[in-house]
Amino acid sequence: ASVYNLQAKENEIAYDDDQEGLNEQIVIKFSHVVAENTPKGLAAQKFADLVQEKTNNRVKVEVFPNGMLYSDEEELEALKEGDIQMIAPATSKLSSVVPELQIIDLPYAFPTYEAVNEALNGEIGTTLLSKMKQKNLVGLSFWSNGFKQVSSNRNPLIEPDDFKGQTFRIMPSEVIESQFQALDASTSRVPFNLTYRNLEYGRLNGQENTLSNIYSKKFFEVQKYMTISNHGFLGYVLLMDKNFWEDIPEDIQEDITEAMEEATKWNQHYAVIMNKSALDKIEETSDIKVYHLTPGEKERWMNEFESVYRKFEPLIGKDLMNKLESVRN
Ligand code: LMR
Repeated sequence: ASVYNLQAKENEIAYDDDQEGLNEQIVIKFSHVVAENTPKGLAAQKFADLVQEKTNNRVKVEVFPNGMLYSDEEELEALKEGDIQMIAPATSKLSSVVPELQIIDLPYAFPTYEAVNEALNGEIGTTLLSKMKQKNLVGLSFWSNGFKQVSSNRNPLIEPDDFKGQTFRIMPSEVIESQFQALDASTSRVPFNLTYRNLEYGRLNGQENTLSNIYSKKFFEVQKYMTISNHGFLGYVLLMDKNFWEDIPEDIQEDITEAMEEATKWNQHYAVIMNKSALDKIEETSDIKVYHLTPGEKERWMNEFESVYRKFEPLIGKDLMNKLESVRN
């Protein structure tokens, strides 16, 4: 409060006719499950700093990383209860609330980061965010983590047949489940922060995730083989409860929106750099065998995944699928 009062003094003239609101600082508890040194962790901190600066401390964003407050399975409920005010779950984890979000989970949906940004910053993103509103949620933006890679402690994953009979940890998404089914593999929906332990004890053979998550949560320590497949994309949707958002004064909403736009640009730029540097660090510090999928192998994976597209087109809808098609080409 003392910092706030100091700041308020400096802004006496600007705040002159708003004496009432002066002592009320809005606190936004922002909970997430990844490490601080990741595309989401760092963007969350960047967003917090920007909000504080733009609102002259009228809003304070407190970031809680590593699932220290709530696990990925608990955070949406905590948001609705008002125990926290902001979350940024992987879109896959919201698929039971907004099933169309699973368009982002389709294997090889996006050939490049440019295509991802075109989709999420463009019409596909706007359409998906508008669906959140119907669920009493405000989707402020999409952030990126990056492309997913796949790993196993049983055998190298090069041909579609190599997945047969193995169990992979997945996020809760039917599309991701179906992606592994197409390769005759089983899946298990395990919370993010229990994945290491389950891999370590051999309850799972493998997992898929981005390089920054594989590095920061040390999955590479408990896996023998990793394939750079870039077979899927992991992104986040930034969420607030609609009632909480609507109670925020309009001028502050504008500051928050601006801070979010800047943090999103920052995130989309650094996500690419961070995942690249995570691969360098994994290769430097571990014995995991890293294999880069060739274009021919990738094509054979894609052929197996055609069934996933056929299965989910009715759920996702023709309109979004057509929009995806134009982003892909
Ligand atoms: C996962 O569960 O693998 C990811 O959603 C974690 C994250 O938030 O990046």
